[in-house]
Amino acid sequence: MKAAEKFVLICCLFQGVLCREFSISLPESIEALRGLCVLIPCSFDFKEQYDHQLQNNPRGVWYKGDSWAKHKVFSSKTTEGNKIDGKIIGDLYRKNCTTIFYNISESDSGEYYFRIVFGNLKYIYPSSLYLNVRASPISPSITLYKEDQGKVEDQNEVVEGTSVSLICSARSPCPFNPPIFTWNFLSEERRQEQNHNARFRSSQLNFKATRLHHGVNFTCTATYQLQNKNKSAQSSFRLHVLYAPRNTSVSASPSASVLLGSSVSLSCSSDANPAVLNYTWYRENGEQIGTGKHLTISKTASTNRGLYYCRAQNQLGDQKSSVYLDVLYAPQVSPSSSCNSALDLIMCSCEVHGNPSPKLVWHLSGQTVLPSESTPIREESVGDTGLKSFITIHQSFIDTPTLQCIGINKLGVDTHLFNPLKAECRHTAVSYLVLSLSVVLLLCVGIISFLICKLKQLFGKIKVLKSGNVYASLQLSAPNTYEILQTHRERRLQENKV
Ligand SMILES: *[C@@H]1O[C@H](CO)[C@@H](O)[C@H](O)[C@H]1NC(C)=O
Ligand SMILES: *[C@@H]1O[C@H](CO)[C@@H](O)[C@H](O)[C@H]1NC(C)=O
Ligand SMILES: *[C@@H]1O[C@H](CO)[C@@H](O)[C@H](O)[C@H]1NC(C)=O
Ligand SMILES: *[C@@H]1O[C@H](CO)[C@@H](O)[C@H](O)[C@H]1NC(C)=O
Ligand SMILES: *[C@@H]1O[C@H](CO)[C@@H](O)[C@H](O)[C@H]1NC(C)=O
Ligand SMILES: *[C@@H]1O[C@H](CO)[C@@H](O)[C@H](O)[C@H]1NC(C)=O
Repeated sequence: MKAAEKFVLICCLFQGVLCREFSISLPESIEALRGLCVLIPCSFDFKEQYDHQLQNNPRGVWYKGDSWAKHKVFSSKTTEGNKIDGKIIGDLYRKNCTTIFYNISESDSGEYYFRIVFGNLKYIYPSSLYLNVRASPISPSITLYKEDQGKVEDQNEVVEGTSVSLICSARSPCPFNPPIFTWNFLSEERRQEQNHNARFRSSQLNFKATRLHHGVNFTCTATYQLQNKNKSAQSSFRLHVLYAPRNTSVSASPSASVLLGSSVSLSCSSDANPAVLNYTWYRENGEQIGTGKHLTISKTASTNRGLYYCRAQNQLGDQKSSVYLDVLYAPQVSPSSSCNSALDLIMCSCEVHGNPSPKLVWHLSGQTVLPSESTPIREESVGDTGLKSFITIHQSFIDTPTLQCIGINKLGVDTHLFNPLKAECRHTAVSYLVLSLSVVLLLCVGIISFLICKLKQLFGKIKVLKSGNVYASLQLSAPNTYEILQTHRERRLQENKV
């Protein structure tokens, strides 16, 4: 390997130190706003052979035009003859050609070339910058960041509860007049401004996504303060918040209180995003009774009374709501209502069902019976729609022909007529005792009658002999006493038996 080749190789290995070329670092283009300043970040380099000359009063010159024809618009040497008011704020001794042009106008739009001049070096860099001066600012951009996924491209959906950030970024061509950001929404959310790059400014809105943010336009406005007026540009971002069903409710048509036998339709509604996938209906006991938004019962029965739950489901969860369905009906006296009698007491019970829960009234011979010591009345409820009442009547009232039990609610009246004298009486232990005693008595009467009869025959024979009146009177009176008792008992027995 020749010495020259070795040198080239080393040159290449240490490029930038030993073999530097002319180079410039400029943005390809810059968007500027009319009336504002514009900052042009710039740095340059040159062949190392000129290094020692840099200390010799370097100056920068900006040309405007194209590769074929350029004209000088700005020189750092003098302010006279400069077409653009500006300043090189970078340190040329440190190869920094960062420049500011003040009060730029639309006619300043075009290609710009930089030329460096020091010692005996005058070099115009072939790379150019395109300066685009606008009358009004470019709209800012809004980007969504999710806590778990970072930046979210082409998407505006978030699940409720996710911590999100919206970052509004706007160009800041002039460092002295950065844009001021305003958000239309929710001042309470944390906001912070960032200067993430010399030519951009941004404002970050941090919040936890809730349903309230769904469909909301988040508008970010960037305002540029010019000498005598403000110019602003804005962008909107519409957030889609996905959430489980909420505000689930059940309504009943025509009403949640319906007459027995009529139809009722229950409807479930819920707010969910994405929309509710399915609705499920079930009763208190967990039994599923239907699906779909509506549940219709075409003919209500009393068993339809109770709570109805609707569960609304989507991919994110579920929510339930309930309605109490009341089935109304007029009072109905139960056929099990009956009377018992024992000794001189008659006890009757009456059971009545109805919704709303009925009242129960006793009528004795058309007169309302009020509970008293002589006619005690005791009530107990049967389920939540029934009432059972017990009345006790003393035998002294037995002449009274009618006893009525009357059930009353707002939908109607039902009456049951008892006949306590003949009525549906059952034999209680006491009445069985009475019956047995009667039978024993009857037997006794029969036996005694038989004996008396035999005695009569015997004494008849004696009478023929002695003719005694004493026995005859006995014979007449005693059986009669028994007979009266006997018929009385038989009557009562008949009453009891019917
Ligand atoms: C050039 O100068 C500007 C203005 O002083 C400064 O902001 C920038 O950081 C400098 N660039 C470099 C590469 O040093
Ligand atoms: C900025 O430039 C416009 C026209 O280019 C001029 O009318 C205006 O006076 C200038 N403003 C300042 C502060 O130099
Ligand atoms: C420009 O905007 C700023 C901040 O919003 C405000 O204080 C100022 O009064 C506005 N100037 C004009 C000329 O509207
Ligand atoms: C939301 O912003 C978009 C785009 O800026 C706009 O078209 C739409 O009308 C806005 N909607 C509301 C409700 O403000
Ligand atoms: C919906 O639910 C929210 C709470 O989740 C409540 O603040 C709001 O009032 C409800 N809206 C309606 C119409 O019920
Ligand atoms: C309702 O949707 C959920 C969620 O997709 C599913 O798991 C469930 O089986 C569905 N129920 C009915 C009754 O379709």
